[in-house]
Parts: sequence; C-alpha cells; structure tokens
Amino acid sequence: MIETRALSPALGVEVTGVTDLLHPQVVSRCLEALKWRGVLLIRGLNLDDEAQLAFSRELGTVLAPGGKEIFKVSLDPSVNPSADYLRATFHWHIDDTTSDVPAKATMLTARHVAMVGGGTEFASTYAAFEALPAEDQKRYEQLRVVHSFEAAQRLTHPDPTEQQIQAWRSLPTHETSLVWQRHDGRRSMVIGATADHIVGVSPEESRTLLDELRDWSTQERFRYTHEWAVGDVVIWDNTGMLHRALPYDPASKRTMHRTTIAGEEAWA
Ligand code: OGA
Ligand code: MN
Repeated sequence: MIETRALSPALGVEVTGVTDLLHPQVVSRCLEALKWRGVLLIRGLNLDDEAQLAFSRELGTVLAPGGKEIFKVSLDPSVNPSADYLRATFHWHIDDTTSDVPAKATMLTARHVAMVGGGTEFASTYAAFEALPAEDQKRYEQLRVVHSFEAAQRLTHPDPTEQQIQAWRSLPTHETSLVWQRHDGRRSMVIGATADHIVGVSPEESRTLLDELRDWSTQERFRYTHEWAVGDVVIWDNTGMLHRALPYDPASKRTMHRTTIAGEEAWA
C-alpha cells in the first residue's frame, strides 16, 4: 500500500510502498502530492532510462531540450558538454524561466552520488509568498521581472569574455510577473539566479529587492534539503520551487539523469 510522509513542514513528500510505479492510482497520488507539496521523493527505485521515461510520460509530455529526453547532470565535460553552464545550478534558481510556458516538473534520478556534499535544496516560493505581510504581497503583485540566462551565468563567471557575453545574449530573455497567480488561484514568486532586474526599477534597487526576496524565500522554514542515495527519484514543481545543488567536487562523478515535463500554463 502506498503511503506519504512530509519531508519538512512547508514542502516535500516521500512516497513509500510503491510496487507498480505506472499504476494509475500511484500516478494520480504522485501528481496530487507534487501539486500540494512541491517536491516528491521515492527512494530506492533504481530506474533505468527507459523506466524513468515511462514514469515521466505518465506525468505529462516529456520535453527534449537539445534533442534529448534524458539530460545528464554532470560537471564532467566528457559526460555533459555544457558542464560549464551547470555550475550555475549552485545558485538558487527556477529552470526554464526564459520560456513562454515553463516546464511543469523536473525529475532527477541519482545514478552516482558525491562522497561529500552534492545534496539538492528546494525552497517553496508558494509558502514564502503566503507568509509575507499583506501589504508586501500587494506591492510585489504590481511588479514584473526580466529573466535571462546571462544573469545566471554572471554568478559563476563574474569576468566574462566578450565571446561568452555574446553567447549568453544569443538566448532570449523573458519578462514575467514577479508574483505568479495561477488559474487555480495559487501564488508563487518567479525569482532566483535568472532574475536580472525589475521592470522600471534601477539595477541597484532591483538587485536589492531580488536578493531580499530570495533570502526570504530560502529561509529554513520554507526549505527542504535532499541528501541523495543512488536509486532515489526526486520530482519537483519547477514553477514554484527554487532549487540549487549544494557544492561537490567536480571530480566526484556525481551524475543525475534528468527528465523535464512540459508545462500547461504560461507565465503571467
Ligand atoms: C537541474 C538542477 C540540481 C542538482 O538539473 O535543473 O538544478 O542538484 N539540478 O543537480
Ligand atoms: Mn535546475
């Protein structure tokens, strides 16, 4: 029988007792748990790529960024040619902020874990927004944010070459409302490493407010840290959870296989 258990007060749920991952009842419990808890953990599944894809397809449409449905998260350039970009995952971020319709969920399966470090942290911007004083909520609801790949890359490359800047700028930027109210009424915040500036606000003031909101949202009470074991599956609601990798040695061979589930609702 499947059971659920909270991982932390504000977010996260572990599902246990799963014998048939593709059973419709298991799938619907997982989707429900993901919606309300933001992060879903199933330990010890040891899915191979086929099984990961089959489960991912039960949750929605699997995207193939760069033509591949399975993306290998690794800092080893021989495993992932864009390993250098992945260093930005050490900073709190939301994936896919520059797309019109952000990915709904991301799934990682742990194939090889680091001996030291290499956990993944999640923070719920739904819970963080809800806990703000009403007058701040009202003020933030008026604001819009521009997201860019460049803003995230500058965190790991503070002194970029002209060529790096050109490459980053060849990707589209995207403007969203700071507070995203969904069709179902739930509200989260679209912040993190890709948040470049607030529309109509000076770069300095933008930075101050965006950093403040990130720090507010990533307080321990809105956060869950996952320490990986090989075979774990973690899925998160990418549209509302900030996340980051905790530091690990690039030579550790830490490898996660990622699938991405297409979103159904465009940013506001
Ligand atoms: C990602 C990501 C974090 C990690 O794959 O989008 O942010 O811990 N990964 O590898
Ligand atoms: Mn990410």
